Amino acid sequence: MQRKEFVRLCRRHSGSTNNKSNHTLSQKVLSAVDSYQKQHSKKLPVIWLETNDSGDNNISLMNTTYPYLDRVFKELIDLLYSNTFMAAQGKDAINILKAAANRKAGEFTLVVEGAIPLKEEYSVVFTTKKQKVSALEAVKWLGGLAKNVVAIGTCASFGGPTAANPNVSRSVAVSEVLECEVINVSGCPVNPDWFVGTLAHLLMYGRPELDERKRPTLFYGYTIHRHCQRRSYFDNGNFAENLGEIECMFSQGCVGPKTRADCPYRQWLNVNWPVEANTPCIGCTNPDFPDGSTPFFTPLSEKGGGWERRGRRE
Ligand code: SF4
Ligand code: F3S
Repeated sequence: MQRKEFVRLCRRHSGSTNNKSNHTLSQKVLSAVDSYQKQHSKKLPVIWLETNDSGDNNISLMNTTYPYLDRVFKELIDLLYSNTFMAAQGKDAINILKAAANRKAGEFTLVVEGAIPLKEEYSVVFTTKKQKVSALEAVKWLGGLAKNVVAIGTCASFGGPTAANPNVSRSVAVSEVLECEVINVSGCPVNPDWFVGTLAHLLMYGRPELDERKRPTLFYGYTIHRHCQRRSYFDNGNFAENLGEIECMFSQGCVGPKTRADCPYRQWLNVNWPVEANTPCIGCTNPDFPDGSTPFFTPLSEKGGGWERRGRRE
């Protein structure tokens, strides 16, 4: 499959607002990965390091559909190390990590899940006989050997809830501690399509086009607001007075106008997305999440976020 076609399939709903018939990464994208794999006998080597987060992104990946998780592992990625998914523990796991990082230096994709705490006492990711290795040290070591670095989730991408006020661990985004370009696949948690689609692009075509916050434009090219099913209510000035009503939820604190992601047409796990489930978008993909979204359920202009309701269309 040509890259242009892949991009078209990933973005296929950008003109549609309510098509539930194909809202996950399509079977076509999956079969493209399948045929690429058959031709090239190649998977993307991945080392996955979890630092400081809630673990929600690996749970999200476990829920991937089309492709299901077994096919992600069998056909798309060669998972060399993951402290969540692997059976080995302790010294055995660390030996596997060291061997994989050396064997595949310059080839593997480093996936980091979680923010990087700069205060050491919040930061140990593993311990050897001789030393405690902090998240900062591990990410710098592995980032220096990796071909690509992918930050999965908003903590890794931008600091997220881990770095939220008062940020006692002094946590920062992965990109703040590495010199190389980091691909940010934000979300709290990430939509599995965004992550799997980014890895598929890396395998078949290399680095995807990124926006100014280094997120793949494939998935973060437009605001939630642009394709929201309630947009006509917004345009006509019809706002919900209470949660659960069918009108636009800008009045209830929806930050869809300043949030980039394709939730309205991609949906989550074939099921639904926040606004359709009667809850405002809280901006979980944003660089300023969660501090820039709080207090939740308060209209944007009152949060002082600099977004003006009138006269702006995205
Ligand atoms: Fe949809 Fe929120 Fe925009 Fe209203 S403000 S149209 S609910 S995204
Ligand atoms: Fe997150 Fe808003 Fe989508 S809260 S899941 S970006 S609708």
